Order: sequence, then C-alpha cells, then structure tokens
Amino acid sequence: MRSLTKTMVTMATVAALALAIGPDRAAYAASAKLTQGKTPKRPWMDKRLSPDRRAALVVEQMTLDEKINLVHGLNVWRANPPPRQWLGGAGFVPGISRLGIGDIQMTDGRSGVGRGADRGRYATALPSALALAASWDLNLARDFGAVLGKECRELGFQVSLGGTANLVRDPRNGRNFECFGEDPLFIGKMIAAELKATQHQGVVANINRYALNDQETGRTVYNVVMDRRTMRETDLLAFEIAIKESGVGSVMGAYNRLNGDYCCENRYLLNDVLKKAWAFKGWVMSDWGGTHSTVKAVLAGFDQEMPGDTFLGAALKAAVEKGEVPVARLDDMVHRILRTEFALGVLDEPRALKPVNPFTGAEVAQRVAEGSLVLLKNADGLLPLKAASTASLAVIGSHADAGVLSGGGSDQVDAAGGNAVPGAGAVWHPSSPLKAVRAKASGATVNYDDGMDVAAAAKLASVSAIAIVFVHQHTSEGSDVPNLSLPDKQDELVAAVAAANPRTIVVLETGGPVTMPWIAKVGAVIEAWYPGIRGGEAIANVVFGDVNPSGKLPVTFPRSEADLPETRLPGPPRPSAPGSAKRPTPAPSFDIHYAEGLKVGYKWFDAEAKPPLFPFGFGLSYTTFAYSGLRITRDRNVQVSFQVTNTGRLAGDEVAQVYVSLPPGAGEPPKRLAAWEKIPLRAGETKTVTLMIDPLALSVFNTDKDQWEILPGRYTVFVGGSSRATPLQERVPIGVP
Ligand code: BGC
Repeated sequence: MRSLTKTMVTMATVAALALAIGPDRAAYAASAKLTQGKTPKRPWMDKRLSPDRRAALVVEQMTLDEKINLVHGLNVWRANPPPRQWLGGAGFVPGISRLGIGDIQMTDGRSGVGRGADRGRYATALPSALALAASWDLNLARDFGAVLGKECRELGFQVSLGGTANLVRDPRNGRNFECFGEDPLFIGKMIAAELKATQHQGVVANINRYALNDQETGRTVYNVVMDRRTMRETDLLAFEIAIKESGVGSVMGAYNRLNGDYCCENRYLLNDVLKKAWAFKGWVMSDWGGTHSTVKAVLAGFDQEMPGDTFLGAALKAAVEKGEVPVARLDDMVHRILRTEFALGVLDEPRALKPVNPFTGAEVAQRVAEGSLVLLKNADGLLPLKAASTASLAVIGSHADAGVLSGGGSDQVDAAGGNAVPGAGAVWHPSSPLKAVRAKASGATVNYDDGMDVAAAAKLASVSAIAIVFVHQHTSEGSDVPNLSLPDKQDELVAAVAAANPRTIVVLETGGPVTMPWIAKVGAVIEAWYPGIRGGEAIANVVFGDVNPSGKLPVTFPRSEADLPETRLPGPPRPSAPGSAKRPTPAPSFDIHYAEGLKVGYKWFDAEAKPPLFPFGFGLSYTTFAYSGLRITRDRNVQVSFQVTNTGRLAGDEVAQVYVSLPPGAGEPPKRLAAWEKIPLRAGETKTVTLMIDPLALSVFNTDKDQWEILPGRYTVFVGGSSRATPLQERVPIGVP
C-alpha cells in the first residue's frame, strides 16, 4: 500500500514539475552558457570574483526600475494569470533576464518544503522544530537542515523561509511548535546548525520573525515594550548567535511593533543591531504583509517587501526620485540580495530540477523523531514493552490507526498522498502508530478504539494487558491556545483509561507543553511532539525498546497556568468569547510588557521557586547515568570537563548539561544554560566530556556601553542531566583574585 501511494505521489509530482520546469530551466541554461569559457560575457558571472564585486558589477548595470523590481515581491495571488514560472511558493520576485539574473522563488520550509499539494508536489514532512530541539543534537539539526535545503533546491526554490529564533515565552503561543525552546543560547546554536546545513545545499536560508513575535494574539498590532538589556539577553541573543554562527542570508522582520516601531521599520532592530552590531551582510524581508511604510522603513534598514509592492514599488521609486531615499540606499538593498545569491551559488549553477519523493528524507525524519521523543514518566519500568510477553494491547485515540499530527499555518507540510484523516481540520501524516505497534507486537492481540466514547475505550483498556492512549493538541499559526489543557475532553479519556488499567502509557502529540491532571495515575508518558512522516514507526521503536529514548525538554512543562508569569496570555483587554479557542485579532494596537523580564522559561520557575511539572532539560532513558570528576580550567576561555557513566544495562545517549550562575551583583536569574553535549554510552561505559563555555553564556549586556561584558565575581558551574538535577557543582572566580 505504502509503495503504491509512493508511486502515485511520485507520478503526480513528475507531471506537475514537467509543466513548471520549462521556462525556469531555460533561464538557468542561458546563464550557464554565459559562464562557459574563462571570460564570461557578463563579468559578474565570473566565479573568481568576490560576491560583493559581482553584485556591484550587476548594480552598475541596473536601471532604476530593475532595482525597484528586486526589492519587492510580485503578488502572485493578485496577478491574473500568475507568471508561468511561479512554482507555487509563498513568494516570487521576478529576475532580470536582460542581465541573466534569475527569479527568486521562496517557499516556507520549517518542517519541510511547504504547500505544493495543489500542484502534485510533495516533500518530506520532518518533525516540528520543537521536536528537533528536544533531540538536543546538533548533528540531527544539520541533517534536518540538509534535507530541507536539498529538497528546496531540487524543487526549484532559491529561498527557504526557514526557522524562527523567537523564544517560547508563553506555552500557549500557537506557533511554539515552530520554535526551538526557551533558552537563547540553546536556540541560537541549534538553529544555526540547521540553517548552515540548509545553505550548504545552495539555497538562501532565512531566519524568521525578527523579533519578539512570541504570541499570535494581536500579532499584527501589538507593541512589545521591553528594555534593551532584556531584549538583548533574551530573544535577540538567540537571533545574534544564530545569525553570526550560520551566516544566514536573509532575515524576516516580524509583524509586531517593538518599543513603538513596527519591526520592519525599526531602526534599532535593523540598522543598529542587525546590520551594525552583528555585521549582517544579507537582506531583510518583511513578513507577509508586515511592511508599513516606505521612507521610514527603508531608512531604518529594511530591504525587501513581501509578498507585494504596496510600499516598495511605485512609492519607493517616487521617494528615490524625490531624493527622500538616497540612491545609495536603494543600491545597498539590491546589493545585499545579489551578493547573498552569488555567495551561495544560487545564480551560478544550472539547476537540475527534480521531483522530490516525499519519503526521500524519511530516514532523517525518523532519526530526528527517535532522538526527540521525551520519556517523561516510566513507573516501575513499564517501558519498554517486551513484544514476546505482551499478550494484548489496546491502542486508543488520536487517529492512531491512520497517522500522526502536524502543526498548522505556513509551517504546514502537505501530507504525502493526502491527509491521513480526510476531513479533519488538522493534517495527519500517513504514518500509523497502530500499524507500527502491530508490526512489533506480532504475537499480541492489538485492538484499536478511536477514544470518542470514553466508556468504550476504558472497557477495551480493562480487558487488555496494556493500554496506549494517544492524545493530541493541534496548534497553528494565527491563534494561540486558550489554556494548557488537552482539548476535546482528552484528559477525561486518559483518566478513564488509567482507572480501568494502571498499565497505561500516554503518548502526547502536542505543539508544546500541556498540563497532565492524570499524571499520578498513568504508568508512562512519552512526549512525541509533531513527529513527521515516520512518527508512528519512531513511537513504536521507543515503546518496544528498539530505540532508547534520549530526548530532553527544550521547554518547561508547568503544573498549571497559575504558575506562569501571566495567568492569561498578554493580549487586548477584551476577554475572548466563551468557549472559543481563537482570540479575535483586534484592530487597535496594545502594549505587551512581558512580566518575566529576564526570567524566561525555566529561569522564571527557578527564580520564583515554583516546581514545574517537568523541568527544562528533563527526560528519562531506559538506562541510568552518573556524573563525576568536575574540573574547570580557565585560560582565555572557561573549559568544563567531567565524566558521565552509563550505570544501567542498556546502551543509551545522555544529554549532559552545563549551567552557570552569575555573581549576585549581576542581577540575573539563578542560572542559565552554558553548554551541552549529547553523548552515546554503552552499558557500563564512562566518557570524559570537555565543553568550552561560550563567553556569551557568562556575559550581561551593558546598555550604557552598548556591549556585552563579563562582570568580575564568583560564578558557579553546575553539571547534570537536567536544569533541576545537577549533581556536580563548583565555584569559579572570574576577574577576581
Ligand atoms: C508567516 C511567515 C511565513 C509567511 C509566508 C506568514 O504568515 O508569519 O512565517 O513565512 O507567512 O508564508
């Protein structure tokens, strides 16, 4: 069946591409011809020149209209008919054929290349970004980014509208599944690894929604009010690390305002920080419809309006002609786009467009899912199940017979061959956990109940040796969730099943943290996030112990909303309609003062001494680990080394984490993540781990000096397996005798 679906998808894809490839290939072939021989007719096609020189040579030749056309998209949805070569992606900027400069086709690409089903085009549905984050594995982040980049290129796109470095600041944000967690250093390093790998495939990557777009409620109108130290040490730090370490070619300005100015016309964000302090050489595009002015935006450092030309089309041309925008600024905007394309080879290679088989990256998708599943509870070693000795299994709920859930909005990757749950509001990828469980437990009776009738589900659980309940929370761009409870009475379902059979395993498919009122009653809990095209197989592999779980939480799971910095999501002073999951986006602007200040995520729970349900960095394994031998050496950098031993009987991977407390005078939260490494260990094996602390992890942002600094004083280094389990600790004086 799978191979039939596969063949059908591939055939449809080939047919659709055959239509789309024509003019595009011709354009590439034309530019390829120009590069043959040693001295191309167009000097900017000479690859021996630097990207900046090549861009400058093109800019010299461009007319004012050609320049203007490059700094905004062609609103393909309004064009009738749309240009033939448009591949159906989110953005399209026509090239300049006179100069051999190809089109810029953009596609969303956070958990896979998005939106192609209507053209018969599919791509690998990877797990969500938050799932990738839960692997704490930089190698997996690279593999993930490489699949994205490769498929993006093969499908003909030049720009992958990739991941966001915004923090998970409130667990009710509808886009948390697109994020990498709540710690800026962690986010910065993980996303940098991904973006770099994407660009290595010869496409321009993008870092998304700069900055402080940390909730969907009122996203186009709210104004985040935040002091500079707080923003530089929280969300902006994640962007800083990601942008500097990845060399990402494009940045997308967010919808919201920050301290009064929209992000796409915010001088501090664009000119002062991004371009000056971080020396960013690429270009800044708007989020879709996120541009609000012409002269103000462009002079603040904004480079490209997407998806249309309301402000940077005729209006910009007029502003340049009137001298309100210097030609040099327009040239800089164009230069940034072209130099990035030259630097990444986007304009050089005649690209062989290929249909992408949506299962091509399935092996990577499965490895990421397996590395990201977090075992949250495992009472009395209920897991892993032994296939041979499990007589009967009840699999309950969440369409587990059909597939696994994905997140909605622009991150959505179309389900290969169609939604596995036709007619559902959400998209389910065709990777059935039930089938995967049946394949493992061949000797057992495996029954399925859809969970709609709680009593029937509990009855099935009561006559089965083991019950596996799948529960889910669908989240999407465009709205936040009203609270952290599982929707559709699923808490009742779990409670009833666990009451009928204490050997109940709960598998969560959620966008982020949820509350678990039934936690004490169930035997085991696995957080599977949105696990992608091989999610079902990955879950079964963990349940039956073919894979030893090694994921750790990149976000804190609170006990209840009452423990969050804001008991309700900061939003307009208008309550949402009773029973409505969506908050209406109001037209009037409103201010958001995030109450947590520097204490985002686990830092809040530590500082306020609130015990979380599960802390940041937490995750169990089927084996156990011990830490010993902490040594700290300091020359120019601080280096931490220690031993980790696998004290159990199974091989497993441990995510060893290093946290640091700054001197009391620094005014910082109790501790922050400073380094980590995922270490594979055989049963009984000990490894010495040596980690260098990034100076930023020891620094505070001095707003008077407008720079990072390391304060003299006594620091404390903590090492262990989660933010709340750090058996090793040592004090380190820095800058003091
Ligand atoms: C989203 C972006 C996305 C863009 C294009 C916007 O609504 O906020 O993340 O890249 O649409 O699809």
